[in-house]
Amino acid sequence: MDLGIRGKKAIVCASSRGLGKGCALALAEAGCDLTVNGRDEKVLARTATEIRDRFGVEVAEVPGDVADPAVQKQLLAAAPQVDILVNNNGGPPYRPFSELNRDSILKGVTNNMVAPLELVQAVIGGMADRGFGRIVNITSLSVYVPIPGLDLSSGARAGLTSFLAGVARTVADKNVTINHMLPGKLDTDRLRGPHEAGTVEDPVAGAARRARLAADVPAKRLGSPEEFGQVCAFLCSVHAGYLTGQNIMIDGGLYVSAF
Ligand SMILES: NC(=O)c1ccc[n+]([C@@H]2O[C@H](COP(=O)([O-])OP(=O)(O)OC[C@H]3O[C@@H](n4cnc5c(N)ncnc54)[C@H](OP(=O)(O)O)[C@@H]3O)[C@@H](O)[C@H]2O)c1
Repeated sequence: MDLGIRGKKAIVCASSRGLGKGCALALAEAGCDLTVNGRDEKVLARTATEIRDRFGVEVAEVPGDVADPAVQKQLLAAAPQVDILVNNNGGPPYRPFSELNRDSILKGVTNNMVAPLELVQAVIGGMADRGFGRIVNITSLSVYVPIPGLDLSSGARAGLTSFLAGVARTVADKNVTINHMLPGKLDTDRLRGPHEAGTVEDPVAGAARRARLAADVPAKRLGSPEEFGQVCAFLCSVHAGYLTGQNIMIDGGLYVSAF
């Protein structure tokens, strides 16, 4: 399917690995020029090269923490007339509620609610003026299904979702959409848990880990960043202009509900 977004400019935050990278790859495949981001410069450069080599699109690299206002400024400068914004960031680390304090709560809310809101605020006016905009926020299934120890992640992302529910309706008539993608269990470094960068997982242990994690998923497997990215690209396509303010679960059926 031609997604109709060839030549569009996209910022994909936190896109050097994992789900962000899956979105960047799919948008590049659709012909978008990209601005990619991640804190590790070397990994970011490798991803940017891979995308250029595979799809021949323009890729600007902005290394740094996406919640840092200076880095946000650089992202926006790299794509001054941005058509597509994919908000993503690392999630807060697992931490029991009793161990959180004011600083850690404010940090989590800054990273997973305030930072994406700031970027939306920066781009939405221009998108509305130009009559095209697609904003996708990568949140989490934990917005619907709380996970003990990831309460901060769930709360900050639910806050982002509710905040933008109203904003989305103010720009719907300008062909600007705002949607959220809720990953369930997708096979990325995050699901592998803490490990040294660059360490290769033992294949037998990796298969056992994936099987354990997938046991309660109706699809009986973990999702891939690539298939996640393809849904993102569709949400950013010209065909999805009447789809806004929605939470799209990418979870292999893990969230059990008729509606
Ligand atoms: N995978 C899942 O099944 C799943 C489920 C629910 C929710 N999620 C959420 O989805 C998001 C993406 O997860 P993932 O699985 O793709 O994680 P991942 O495999 O760990 O990848 C995270 C990516 O974000 C970058 N990043 C992390 N912190 C950053 C920061 N402060 N500024 C800029 N870039 C940053 C990382 O690069 P650097 O480390 O070099 O910065 C990397 O490119 C996370 O918020 C996660 O909580 C994932």
